[in-house]
Amino acid sequence: MTPVDGGRLAEVTFRRPTEADYERVVRVVDDWWDGRALHVLLPRLWFQHFTGTSWLAETTDGELAGFLVGFVSPDDPGVAYCHMIASNPNGRRSRVARRLYERFFEDARAAGCHEVHAITWPGNRVSVAFHRSLGFVADDGPGSQNLYGTPALAGYDYGTEDRVHFVRKL
Ligand SMILES: CC(C)(COP(=O)(O)OP(=O)(O)OC[C@H]1O[C@@H](n2cnc3c(N)ncnc32)[C@H](O)[C@@H]1OP(=O)(O)O)[C@@H](O)C(=O)NCCC(=O)NCCS
Repeated sequence: MTPVDGGRLAEVTFRRPTEADYERVVRVVDDWWDGRALHVLLPRLWFQHFTGTSWLAETTDGELAGFLVGFVSPDDPGVAYCHMIASNPNGRRSRVARRLYERFFEDARAAGCHEVHAITWPGNRVSVAFHRSLGFVADDGPGSQNLYGTPALAGYDYGTEDRVHFVRKL
């Protein structure tokens, strides 16, 4: 990936993913999440049934620059949920992920949503800073406690995994 504009990537295009993109995306997940085995969170179904509310970013030479997988909640149509978002480590701080979320916010608004939700591990300080910079607020309501400096819910997933529950008003 070629950095331009003082290290920031200007030449990135955005499009909907298709099922044909699945393998190239799932292949990078563990690396992009610093070696955590998170590819298990991305089975093929995400590229079969959620492509209409997901986004892919590519450089002009076709290299994967980032992706966002999200959906509008079937149970609460006023809420859109981002399941995974990441950008290529060689192109971080180029506003790729911000631009992915901006497109997802537009999808959510167009669908009539009033909030976007996302969860992240409180120890993922970059993700916490990133979400806050986009206007997400950590749920500090009942059951939350300060974990790694952020209001978070202990044992939120599987009874063992702590999570920050972020909400961003549209
Ligand atoms: C979190 C992540 C998606 C951010 O992607 P990115 O393309 O580098 O983010 P952007 O360039 O759009 O940054 C937008 C803003 O977020 C904040 N931010 C991003 N990276 C940051 C960092 N390392 N430290 C502090 N703030 C940061 C900044 O406010 C930034 O704006 P600025 O560059 O104008 O100051 C990326 O680091 C990543 O893919 N991490 C691994 C996957 C992950 O943890 N995903 C989130 C949980 S699902």
